[in-house]
Amino acid sequence: MEPQKNQEQCCTVKCDVPLNQDYWNSRYQQNDTGWDLGEISGPIKNWIDTLEDKNQSILIPGCGNTYEAQYLLEKGFKNITVIDIAPVLVEDLKNRFLDNHCIHIVLGDFFKLQGSYDLIIEQTFFCALPPSLRPKYVWKMHQLLKENGRLCGLLFDTSFEVSPPFGGSKKEYESLFSSAFEIESMEIAQNSAPKRQNQELFIEFKKNSQNLVNFYQIQGITCSGCMKTVTGKIMELQGAKNVQMSSDFSEILLVSEKEISLTILQELLSYDKKYNIEKVDNLPLTL
Ligand SMILES: C[S@@+](CC[C@H](N)C(=O)[O-])C[C@H]1O[C@@H](n2cnc3c(N)ncnc32)[C@H](O)[C@@H]1O
Repeated sequence: MEPQKNQEQCCTVKCDVPLNQDYWNSRYQQNDTGWDLGEISGPIKNWIDTLEDKNQSILIPGCGNTYEAQYLLEKGFKNITVIDIAPVLVEDLKNRFLDNHCIHIVLGDFFKLQGSYDLIIEQTFFCALPPSLRPKYVWKMHQLLKENGRLCGLLFDTSFEVSPPFGGSKKEYESLFSSAFEIESMEIAQNSAPKRQNQELFIEFKKNSQNLVNFYQIQGITCSGCMKTVTGKIMELQGAKNVQMSSDFSEILLVSEKEISLTILQELLSYDKKYNIEKVDNLPLTL
């Protein structure tokens, strides 16, 4: 008898090398920074030129050499925070912006940052993260923005043979950010750097403060079939608007128009004893 084909292949996305602090720090130490444009990217520069409120609080995560912050300072913006996980880079930034009180430079993990911002600028940070962190990125961005705050900047609209960077598409972003954010615009960027021409989307996402955005760790799911079943069941709960499970099946983003208690989620998943779901709360900023 022919062996039965496995229809539900596991599809965990994993990197060979952990993209942790050591990885990014050594990229800076070795001057291996192919992502660095050496100047602010055209679409972000043009968009900054349209901003009027110089006092708004602005965050730039995974800031790298942060030509964006440099430009914001030149334009008179007064409340900028940049964060990066690579100590070598951050030390350099602290020297570069010495005694400038308009910029706050943080060494740390974005996912542990606490704060509240009017605007967050995305520039090759999302694509540097393992794709399994994408639902967590949406949760954290929502948490860090003030009411009506915006996440703006560039996301790739292409795929890559070697990663990082990790690619993506408009369709994927629509599904990922839906209900947690209102997608005000997401179009192919004009004026991109030559090697990124027609490959990046300029995004303006407004925080949707009407909906609750919660994040959970889940254990026991091992394949895409179970993932679909579980996310489908959660979506059927009253008030659920969007459910995204991480590609390694370990985390869930739940956007809902009303509170869905942990007990309800635990009861829903109790049909399989392997499953365990717990809510994730904030962690203090530490390295
Ligand atoms: C591809 S580089 C982009 C740097 C910069 N935005 C640019 O466009 O030149 C990604 C950056 O994210 C930083 N990074 C990676 N993971 C991070 C994390 N969890 N928290 C904060 N920064 C992180 C890296 O150290 C690196 O500087």
